[in-house]
Amino acid sequence: MVCLGNICRSPLAEGILKSKINGQHVFVDSAGTGAWHSGELPDKRSIAVAKKNGIDLSDQRARLFLVEDFDRFDHIYVMDQSNYKNVCRLAPDEEAMNKVQLILNEIHPDQNREVPDPYYGGDSGFDHVFQMLNEACDIIKQKIENA
Ligand code: 4NP
Repeated sequence: MVCLGNICRSPLAEGILKSKINGQHVFVDSAGTGAWHSGELPDKRSIAVAKKNGIDLSDQRARLFLVEDFDRFDHIYVMDQSNYKNVCRLAPDEEAMNKVQLILNEIHPDQNREVPDPYYGGDSGFDHVFQMLNEACDIIKQKIENA
């Protein structure tokens, strides 16, 4: 799960998917394409909306997306077009590039919709992001179970 800062959207995506596939042999992680917040906890507002929905993000720390992640993961979900460009720029080959997809395409195939960056908005933006990611992660969970 990849966003820009790895403090708002991708920590929520990581926490939500982990909560759904608990106990299955799947490794879920998140990262950011920018390093400004590396080592920090998720944004307080992400922690709060997750907590409200029974999910604990407090063991997460922001980290930068690395080229090695292409080898470590089968699927790389990004939140918006800018993340998509930044991640694809690091892809060593086409196989790596093909692992990268916009997470909302799981709900709305080929529509290239974006998870809006809630960083500069109010709390309602975080609720909206939570709902979108929750719906996408339900589909990802089903795909994992049917794989
Ligand atoms: P995120 O949100 O990409 O969902 O973690 C942001 C967090 C911080 C910044 C931008 C987006 N920032 O510019 O510091």
